[in-house]
Amino acid sequence: MHRASFTLDPAFSVGTVDPRLFGSFVEHLGRCVYTGVHEPGHPAADEHGFRRDVLDLVRELGVTVVRYPGGNFVSGHRWEDGVGPVRKARLEPAWRSVESNEFGLGEFAAWARAAGIEPMMAVNLGTRGVQEACDLLEYANHPGGTHLSDLRAEHGAAEPYGIRLWCLGNEMDGSWQIGHRPAADYGKLAAATARAMRMIDPGLELVACGSSHHGMPTFGAWEEEVLSAAYDDVDHVSLHAYYREEDDDPAGFLASGSAMEAFIEDVVATCDHVRAKLKRRKRITLSFDEWNVWYMRPMEEEARPWERAPRLLENTYSLTDAVAVGGMLIALLRHADRVKIACQAQLVNVIAPIMTEPGGPAWRQTIFHPFAQASRYGRGEVLRVEPVSPVVETAAHGETPLLHATAVRDGEGTVTVFAVNRALDGPMELTADVRALSDGLRVLSHEVLADDDRHAKNTRENPDRVRPRPAADGTAVDGGRLRAVLPPLSWNVIRLGGA
Ligand code: AHR
Repeated sequence: MHRASFTLDPAFSVGTVDPRLFGSFVEHLGRCVYTGVHEPGHPAADEHGFRRDVLDLVRELGVTVVRYPGGNFVSGHRWEDGVGPVRKARLEPAWRSVESNEFGLGEFAAWARAAGIEPMMAVNLGTRGVQEACDLLEYANHPGGTHLSDLRAEHGAAEPYGIRLWCLGNEMDGSWQIGHRPAADYGKLAAATARAMRMIDPGLELVACGSSHHGMPTFGAWEEEVLSAAYDDVDHVSLHAYYREEDDDPAGFLASGSAMEAFIEDVVATCDHVRAKLKRRKRITLSFDEWNVWYMRPMEEEARPWERAPRLLENTYSLTDAVAVGGMLIALLRHADRVKIACQAQLVNVIAPIMTEPGGPAWRQTIFHPFAQASRYGRGEVLRVEPVSPVVETAAHGETPLLHATAVRDGEGTVTVFAVNRALDGPMELTADVRALSDGLRVLSHEVLADDDRHAKNTRENPDRVRPRPAADGTAVDGGRLRAVLPPLSWNVIRLGGA
């Protein structure tokens, strides 16, 4: 039995969780939009063609904000093709697909309302620039009396969409990005676009592109140059990261949450370096607007025929993937002071917690569950957790603690501990000193995501194989100490409340 411990004290808090930490991402990629969120003619479709079964799962998942329309897709996108009565089908080079544009801004805004989420739009800074970003903003947010705002009304939306959160392009540091450019050029373009957009709508929150991943050769220098040009004009800088099990190294893969923390800390350091250099008071916050597990397949890179909504990036996730995702959620919560927005990529079918079949059912992948529980219980004040834990040596990320954990205290004083036991070889006895929390504290529940087979998956035929279950009896608070046994390779949610 492994043994680990930590102390919880409300006097030591990291910060308040921004609900937008539980965001997601809908890109025009594969079947995320078409036959994912939108499938007219499906038995569950509403009058807009939105799948109600998917909407129900999105609500259950607890998604708060959704980034749209890309991703790599946005860097060649003409938003005008997706509004009004005449839609133009176009070649979409980023994902080598035919884009029908049947679903566009108006459909997304209506879907966002139906789902109860905040929209987060990205503008195209790949093939387009300041003028087109301003046009899109005027169309979306201006009340009326101008060509573009009146056009929106003609298209059926008299009320402006009121979109507050905007990304200034996507992954502009990446050579694969349409319109990729050097940091200094992108920094100037981002600053100019931000200034012009704020002239139209001063209340916007703007995200500058950071690095596409921590391992980019330009990482650090990119953030420094971009922020040196755009510090005063943007609020957040983006981070993107995808992890996967490689070389049969599950321990290294399970350390992904810690790798994500290291990435966040490096970006914070770079932002604060620019702040010091420019002698500013304002702090840039982080938008981790793409994160997940992603098993890239060579066929996605290959030349394929031009098709509408091809099956791309349809990963089926295992229990191991779900525990790794749990670790990523813990990483985000542990940095809630600086990470204000995070979007799991993506929402439906494409590296997603929700899967659908065209004309068929929708179901929850294994990774659905940690997200839903974190969103449901991870609201409030994050308490500082410093685990004392055995470590494992991993090829990918060096020495990594076997216990990864955080705790969130809500407005009523209920404390939720989120904990991952990364050990593959045995359970872990967790002891937490909770004397500084309220008297009479007791365990309200302990739910576990685990399985005898670490490769177990949820499929259309067996959609609930992996789901949270109550832990075996024995989790209790006694003499100011919480004791729990965390099964090998498990995600745990332990709720503590008053008598
Ligand atoms: O989420 C899939 C892709 O990953 C996005 O389009 C891109 O931004 C990233 O490289």
